[in-house]
Amino acid sequence: MYLTDEEKRMLQGEEGVVRQKCMEQLVDLAEIAGAERLVDLDGTGDFTHVAGGRGKFGFPLEALRDLAESGAKFKIPTCSNKVPIPQVPFHGWEKCGIPQHEDPAYNEKLRGEEYMSLYRKMGVFTSHSCANYLTSTFWPTVGQHCSWTESSAVPYCNAVLGGRVNLDGSFASCFLGKAPYYGMHITENRRATVLIKAGRPIQSELEWDVYGFAIGELAELAVPAVTGTVSASTSKLVKFNAALNTGGSVPMYHIPGVTPEAPTVEFALSGKQPRKTFVLGETELRQAYEKINYLPADEVDFVFLGCPHYNIVDLWRVSQLLEGKKVKVRMWIMTSPWLYDLAKSQGFLKIFEDAGATLLTGTCPAAMGMPEGIRTVAMDSAKQSYYITGRFSTPEKPLHVCYGSKEDCVQAALTGKWRGDWR
Ligand code: F3S
Repeated sequence: MYLTDEEKRMLQGEEGVVRQKCMEQLVDLAEIAGAERLVDLDGTGDFTHVAGGRGKFGFPLEALRDLAESGAKFKIPTCSNKVPIPQVPFHGWEKCGIPQHEDPAYNEKLRGEEYMSLYRKMGVFTSHSCANYLTSTFWPTVGQHCSWTESSAVPYCNAVLGGRVNLDGSFASCFLGKAPYYGMHITENRRATVLIKAGRPIQSELEWDVYGFAIGELAELAVPAVTGTVSASTSKLVKFNAALNTGGSVPMYHIPGVTPEAPTVEFALSGKQPRKTFVLGETELRQAYEKINYLPADEVDFVFLGCPHYNIVDLWRVSQLLEGKKVKVRMWIMTSPWLYDLAKSQGFLKIFEDAGATLLTGTCPAAMGMPEGIRTVAMDSAKQSYYITGRFSTPEKPLHVCYGSKEDCVQAALTGKWRGDWR
């Protein structure tokens, strides 16, 4: 593959061991992906989950410390996500029913603070959220090359913001400001090749979530042009993206008239015929709903909201549903640590606490687990349903997952009964 003189110098170790390792990773990835060169990034970075600097793509703490102390800075504005599993919350831990370790220093270690403080020194915004795009105050603009990773974030960057990114964000690419030039960095690959139609208007958040999941299962790696949606909002698009990459692996899509790169279906398809057209009618949508509504039960003993981490409007809406009421079963609401103080100053935290619900930040049940003895959980997220089932349900002890709208879940928390359905 082609490398510039500067890239060759880095690869040969002339600019230090960390830059050398980073360049080796990017070259390896470029070769696997068939990229002929690297692209200089001019957008933003988001490196998640492996951010702790450990594991296959990580660096020892000592190497990072030397790097941070040498004054090195990340090349592009970068948010880091959470440390690897096990994760612990930043707020709400003392009330959530999972005991804390008695040593605060140990708890800080679990939050990855040793690594995060070094990242901050190098310019990283340690947001501790899977939804940095909902809490960051700085986004890429159309056409900017980025390095992001979280599965719901990548289609948000490509489709909703018009940035250019593959699901390959890493310390290496954000630090060096370079990424292998393949996939969604290239204009021709961003065009739609399949067309998706809905047999009913896709309007509510629940419908957007289920539609996303069903499309993910069908589209495989193709870029779909999606029709049939109405009244898009940030929360609906977030759900749609998270579900797309739960049902499948879709880095990019177009919703003509909504997403910025295609005003019409014809434009999205570059004037060509789609390779395939799928119509998702009532039957297919109900089937998708039933896959996510995994083993529902009449009685609920835990309710979780906030996957991906709730934005401030989601928190406001749940506070309105809970105001002046009391939950009957344990309820967690998850958001990013950066929104906690805002939720507090807006009065939402007090409403949640008065109702008996807990606002947590910086992690999620699929990562940190749930309180002991939970056998039935209600939630409003296709993504969380999929991950929590895979992680905690066993044939001997099946976890019942009830899946529905925010309103269905709040009702379940208030009554202890599940009455949600696909409607
Ligand atoms: Fe975030 Fe956990 Fe969902 S990491 S997207 S809340 S599965």
